[in-house]
Order: sequence, then C-alpha cells, then structure tokens
Amino acid sequence: MARETWATRTGFILAAAGSAVGLGNIWRFPWMTADNGGSAFLAVYLLVVLGVGVPGLLGEFVIGRRARRNPMGALRDLSGSRYWGAIGAVSAVTGVALLSFYSVVGGWILRYLLVSIVGPVTGGAPYLASPGPYFDSISFGVEAALFHLGFLAVTGGIVFGGVRRGIELGTKVMVPAVLVLLVGMASWVVTQPGAAAGYQFFLEFDLATLQANAASVIAPAAGQALFTLSVGAGTMVTYASYLGEDRSLPFDGAVIALLNTGVGVLAGLVVFPLLFSQGVDPGTGGPGALFVSIAGAFAALPGGDLLAIVFFGVVALAALSSSISMLEIPVAVLVDEGGWSRGTAVGVLLALTALTGTVTALNPALFDFVAGTLADLLLTGGLLAFLLFAGWVLGPDSIEEYVAGAGALGARFATPWLFAIGVVIPIFLVFTLLTTAGLDAR
Ligand code: PFF
Ligand code: NA
Repeated sequence: MARETWATRTGFILAAAGSAVGLGNIWRFPWMTADNGGSAFLAVYLLVVLGVGVPGLLGEFVIGRRARRNPMGALRDLSGSRYWGAIGAVSAVTGVALLSFYSVVGGWILRYLLVSIVGPVTGGAPYLASPGPYFDSISFGVEAALFHLGFLAVTGGIVFGGVRRGIELGTKVMVPAVLVLLVGMASWVVTQPGAAAGYQFFLEFDLATLQANAASVIAPAAGQALFTLSVGAGTMVTYASYLGEDRSLPFDGAVIALLNTGVGVLAGLVVFPLLFSQGVDPGTGGPGALFVSIAGAFAALPGGDLLAIVFFGVVALAALSSSISMLEIPVAVLVDEGGWSRGTAVGVLLALTALTGTVTALNPALFDFVAGTLADLLLTGGLLAFLLFAGWVLGPDSIEEYVAGAGALGARFATPWLFAIGVVIPIFLVFTLLTTAGLDAR
C-alpha cells in the first residue's frame, strides 16, 4: 500500500500546529512566565524559540520530508547506517514516555470536563466547592489511571483513523476551535473588573526576578521551548514525512511557531485576568496550578460552571491534538519498519502506554521525573541527534531540501540555518543537557 500523505497544505500546518499547541501552552507556560520575570522572561524565551526551536523544527522537517519515513527509517536510509537507525528508534521510546505522563494530565482534564458537564444536574461540579482538596484527591491513584485510559483511548481512536481521516481531519476541527474559543474568552475577560492586575502579574517586566532565577531557569526554559514546539521527539520528522510535494518549510515552520507562541500568550491572557478578577491566588505553578486556581475562579463567577465547560473543552482539544502526534511516532515506526497494519500498531502501543501510563498515574514521584527530567533529556538529546544529522550527515542535501519550495526570502536563511543547526545550537543543547543533569543531581 502506498504511504499516506496529507490531503492539503493547511492540513499539514494544522496537524503540526496542533501537535505544538497543547498542555505546554496552557498548563505550563503562563506560570513559568509569571514566576520568572513576566515580559522579561518572555523576551528571553522568545529568543530561545526563535534561535533554537524554529531552526530545530526545520531540521526535523528537512529530515522527514527528504526521507518520507519515520525517524528510525529516515536516519538509517539517509545515512546508510544502522547505527543512525538505532538513534532514530529512540524517538519511538520518546513518544511512549511522553504519552505516559501527558495522558495522565489528559485524564485530569477529561474528568474536569465531565464533572463540569454533569455538574448542573448533580448540584454543582465537585471541584467548585473545594478546588485544592478535590484536585489532590483525584490527581493520582486508581481513578486517575482510569481517566488516563479514557484519554488514551480517544487518542488511539484518532490515530487509528490514519493520516488523513484521523489526524488531519481531527486537527482541522480541533486547532481552529481552540483558537476561536481562546480569543473569545480573552476578549470577554478584559471586561471583568479587576482583570488588569492579572495582566500585570503575567507580563510585568521584572528584570530582577529574571536575573535572580537565571541560573535555575535557563535549562527549564530551553526544555519548555522544545517541549512546546514538539521538537526533539521525532513527531515533526514523522509529520513532515507525510508531505507529498514541495512546500516552503521555513514558511510553515514560522506559522507553526507563531501560532504556538500566540496560544501560550493567549492562555495567560485568559487565565490570570480571570483569577485576579475573582480574587483567586494564582499560586506558583506546579501540576495542580491550573486546575486548582481556575476552579476557584469558576466557583466565584456567576455562570462560571458554563465557562468551565468551554475552558476544559479547549484544554482537552489542545491536549488531544498533541497526544495524537506522540502516538503517531511509534505507530509510524512499526508500520514503516515492521510492516504492521496501522490497527495492530495502534492496538499494541495502546496496550503498552496503558501500562506505563498507569504506573505513572499511581506514582507522583515518577510522574514528576517523567514529565520533567526524562522529557527534557529525551527532547534535548533527540534534537541534538537530529540536528547533528541534518548538519553533518545530510549537509548540503539539507540545504537543498530546505530551499525546495521555500521562495527567495526563505532560501536566504538556508546557509546561516545550516551553520546554526550544525554548530551553534548543538553547543547550546549540550550545555542545557549538562545543566539539566546537574540540576537534577542536586
Ligand atoms: N507541544 C506539546 C505541548 O506543548 O503540549 C507537547 C508535545 C507534543 C511535545 C508532541 C512533544 C511532542 F512530540
Ligand atoms: Na505547545
């Protein structure tokens, strides 16, 4: 059977943007910004996104489109070396590892969405009465594992549908819905009295805090920049491998990065004004921050239970459009390399991630490790490998692939880009790898 391709150009952009836009933007980014210097942090973060994230994204695109194969097959075929294939195969492990904690958070969201929907019938969603204790009681344990399975099942259902009828169709609905609803909520919350303090908390330029946190913030900020753009996992290699014809990779990459950053900022422009207008303490981040504080705001707000459905609906869609891209990595490896049918691959991988995710859902310490250190190491190490490959193994072929369909403006960046991904960014990534390992060893 011929390998599937995206049906349309926007289909590819929306699928890749859907992968990027996710929990990273809504559940992590706003607090990371607010806690580390507001717009001062944002400026540094944007530099990392532009200087490392976007060139990295393009590196993955170049590899995927050139090889038209999954990360393992791509690195092996393009180099002619089984060792590179083995390095590419790590992407499949990364996909499973990411899903193992992401689906747990996805399960929390499904649960909040569900109790928000049935809340009006059952006398109010339970998290409204006592946000903190409720979150603590559901976040880890057997029920968390069950909801995680639910989230995983939906993820598997979409991926089972295939590239066009599953991923492309799904993200074509999910990504615009997320954008429209977030813009809607952000424009509504402006009208709330007291919202201004939220904008200030989120974005006030605070160089002193940024400087004070600099040593401990640069590696996590780099990790977040990769995570939020879905770079380093091989998802973007995989998605680009379904590109049928020449398109401008730099243009598409820029659109995806712009959308992704926009959604992160939008999320902050929804969450913090909402919290401050309702007099709710935003806390200092951590896995529960979003769930606990936002629930407090919905409880205080007239009509808040309805808004809760919209809000958690948005978060669920954003999470799903990302989780499918995680599952697609090992699926593509098994389909391309093992000759498995998509159905068998999805089934076996669901069984595997159900197991690893259940262990994670039962164990908060393991969750923290997988969501933090392990994810950062796999993404940073993964990107390092992809970029060294594109820079040194493909070399001039990378330029050729980058320029194909890029137009004059995009092509102008090709040579500086190759230098960046071959030399500058790898040095930066090694530095963050060492820092991540070092920070964690303390
Ligand atoms: N970019 C996603 C987010 O911000 O939530 C997370 C992610 C998806 C990371 C896919 C890596 C990946 F391969
Ligand atoms: Na993201």
